[in-house]
Amino acid sequence: MENLNYIHDAAAAAAVAAAYETPPLAYVRSYGCQQNFNDGEKLRGVLLDIGYGITDTPEQADLILFNTCAVREHAEQRVFGNIGALKRLKAANPRLLIGVCGCMAQQPQVVEKLKTSYPYVDFVFGVDGILELPGLLARRLGGGRRAMQPPAQRAAVIEGVPVRRDSGFRAWLPVMYGCDNFCTYCIVPYVRGRERSRAPEAVLAEFRRLVAAGCKEITLLGQNVNSYGKTLPEPMDFADLLELLCAEPGDYRLRFMTSHPKDAGKKLIDTIARHPQLCRHIHLPVQSGSDRILAAMNRHYTAAQYLDLIDYAKKTIPGVTFSSDIIVGFPGETEEDFAQTLELVRRVGYMQLFTFIYSRRTGTRAARMPDPATHAEKAARMARLLKTQEEVSYPAIAALAGRDVRVLVEGAGRRAGTVTGRLDNNLTVEFPAPESLVGAWAQVHLTGARAALLTGERIIAKE
Ligand code: SAH
Ligand code: SF4
Ligand code: F3S
Repeated sequence: MENLNYIHDAAAAAAVAAAYETPPLAYVRSYGCQQNFNDGEKLRGVLLDIGYGITDTPEQADLILFNTCAVREHAEQRVFGNIGALKRLKAANPRLLIGVCGCMAQQPQVVEKLKTSYPYVDFVFGVDGILELPGLLARRLGGGRRAMQPPAQRAAVIEGVPVRRDSGFRAWLPVMYGCDNFCTYCIVPYVRGRERSRAPEAVLAEFRRLVAAGCKEITLLGQNVNSYGKTLPEPMDFADLLELLCAEPGDYRLRFMTSHPKDAGKKLIDTIARHPQLCRHIHLPVQSGSDRILAAMNRHYTAAQYLDLIDYAKKTIPGVTFSSDIIVGFPGETEEDFAQTLELVRRVGYMQLFTFIYSRRTGTRAARMPDPATHAEKAARMARLLKTQEEVSYPAIAALAGRDVRVLVEGAGRRAGTVTGRLDNNLTVEFPAPESLVGAWAQVHLTGARAALLTGERIIAKE
């Protein structure tokens, strides 16, 4: 595995400066998961480094970059629709450059489609192509041809990339890249390449910088954080990494995602129990409650093993909450399989559930499995799943009323004069307070809930 370092590209910066009278503006839009949003923050950082300014308005931009997601067909269609809408902007401003990168750009058939059907797209590059971005831009600005090559995959960890973070008080911190699990439905291992971990020193250094800068919530990222460390010269596991980070003093809390149940063990749970900085919330995607479907998905655990882990966590970490991802309508899923999923959802009592109708991804193993259920049947199952989840979670959320909690204030609430804050357990509470509180901790007395949203009152400490 290669370890690469970002180096400021002075030639590209000069090319950008020469092409525009005033600093050009870039609009970067990211789709998909947190990892991709963090990549988008790095793309902005690199663009700033070579002389671009950043804008949130595509109409004002001299460069539009779509950082895409390929996980479901719907996500891809949305991106194609949004790229189509750029034709008008390019017609109005022929100097506008348009680039497509991220997970969709890793797929040869997508690159081919962009090449032939979207002539106003100037360049594409894949998920590990950030080091090539300055050079690509410089060549195109200098009159070079469109760069529409299907990206090669390189198993690299790239350090030292400038990051322009979206938030000053919350941050994403990737600890590993790629995925080796090959769940049979999933495109991620094909587009993100092989698993590789960042060196613990690099993670710790970034973590320290964030804490020193006043960042209050740091979320460690990886497609399967529990395989952290396997590729390091001196192997260590994810729980060891958490220990290392939690030894750092500071006023922060720490989250992580995603944990694959096959690799999440008692050691991880014990580590969470020991450290108050680690949030009492575990995102543990189960995908299905049927052992038959779990095997067909290549998930490497049974519903019983999953439930054992949940029970151990409930016993070991008082007040712990769980969230999960579930796929409805995996090829061959029967009514009985689906009933087992509903049963598992009731048994765990998830506070939050992210649910998806199975989407066929070209090149994956599940794409070749017979899939007789109709979309209408799958949609009906989805509706039942959501109803079950509401029956489970709404009363559990409402039952938190009466407690006093510490929250990180994230933004304005839906009702006038309110803000929203996130609890340690990942639930959100809306309470009356000035917006100047955003980014700060607040003590809140929980008073009730509207559906999944808690309501509360701020507790102002008396001197
Ligand atoms: N690495 C994470 C999840 C990454 S993708 C994990 O293993 O949990 C996020 C979620 O998208 C997955 O958990 C899964 O529920 C869903 N997903 C992935 N591929 C999908 C597909 N082809 N169709 C529907 N949902 C899918
Ligand atoms: Fe996809 Fe499975 Fe890897 Fe998650 S663990 S990214 S679902 S292959
Ligand atoms: Fe999507 Fe790529 Fe993330 S496919 S979910 S953006 S890893």
